[in-house]
Amino acid sequence: MKVRTSLAAAVLASAILLPSAAPTLAAPPAPRPPGIEKQDTLRWVAPKDLRIGSAVAGGGHHETQAYPDPFTYDQPYRERLAAEFNSVSPENQLKWEFVHPEQDTYRFAEMDAIVQFAQANKQVVRGHTLFWHSQNPEWLEEGDFTKEELRAILKDHIQTVVGRYAGKIQQWDVANEIFNDNGTLRTTDNIWIRELGPDIIADAFRWAHEADPKAKLFFNDYGVEGLNAKSNAYLELIPRLQAQGVPIDGFAIQGHLSTRYGFPGDLRANLQRFDDLGLETAITEIDVRMDVVAGTEPTAAQLAQQASYYQRALEACVAVDECNSFTIWGFTDTYSWVPVFFSGEGEATVMEEDFTRKPAYYALQTTLEQASPGRGNR
Ligand code: XIL
Repeated sequence: MKVRTSLAAAVLASAILLPSAAPTLAAPPAPRPPGIEKQDTLRWVAPKDLRIGSAVAGGGHHETQAYPDPFTYDQPYRERLAAEFNSVSPENQLKWEFVHPEQDTYRFAEMDAIVQFAQANKQVVRGHTLFWHSQNPEWLEEGDFTKEELRAILKDHIQTVVGRYAGKIQQWDVANEIFNDNGTLRTTDNIWIRELGPDIIADAFRWAHEADPKAKLFFNDYGVEGLNAKSNAYLELIPRLQAQGVPIDGFAIQGHLSTRYGFPGDLRANLQRFDDLGLETAITEIDVRMDVVAGTEPTAAQLAQQASYYQRALEACVAVDECNSFTIWGFTDTYSWVPVFFSGEGEATVMEEDFTRKPAYYALQTTLEQASPGRGNR
């Protein structure tokens, strides 16, 4: 029988019963949203070998919006995040500029809260990201460091951040967006590659692995849905590094799609060729934006096209053995990054601002239901 106790009583009890353990103020699970049965959620119908996830809104563009921190203050949002998903990804809360704002300062409170929430709600966590050209703090990008100092800074950051969450993060996007669209390395805008050379990529993976040997370590990028120069570059790089003993587990495709362009019909073939190398694969940030005209609603045809893109992306992942994680980059338009970053486009997520489910939501639900039997992680 479950007994509800007050927080004070729980702390007292743990102090009495477990005198040597640090008091754990485990967050209670979030209540289910009113009117939503647990069977009527994405995580309930997801097959047990596939995690269904969402980004957790906070940091980044949210900081310049009129609303307070979504994850902290929006209770109906939290309830849906808990109810619908069995994986969560911090949208910005682990990026360098957020988590390491000054050279001697780490800001972990927000990520700690996400990890607690995930544990209370039986969700896994994807870590994002350790090695990137974007959203780095000024002290780092504008700093005057020697090569040795920069190397030490990166190593220390990776060991500190990965180490703090060791055992609590299932997959890490260790390196994000290291290639240009033409398949060449980002040797100018990525500070690490520019200053330390391409070998530093392998070190980043090694350090992450040392700090959490159980976490699965990924490359992650956009524009790699299909068979193209950029995805070819990963297909060449990953086995080459693995042959040198570099601990790499997977290749992840962000999946920021737009109805302005055709659906990347070669997504499945692309996932499959990484799967054939023995790698795990994942879709980590999918959203499907569309043209919006201010003051008007999307048309039924636009919503149907969007639903079909979400569905085909999920079907591609479901069809590939080790594609084991499918994450949408936010689930409500209220907090989507799209209108802030793509002028004239929006409506990119699966729920409207009041959490009304769009056709895209139902397309995901149906596709999960029809995926190979064997449920779990509910
Ligand atoms: C975006 C966030 O959604 C925004 O809040 C932030 O202001 C900018 O970054 N590729 C990535 C993500 O790997 O980290 C980006 O997230 C979207 C593109």
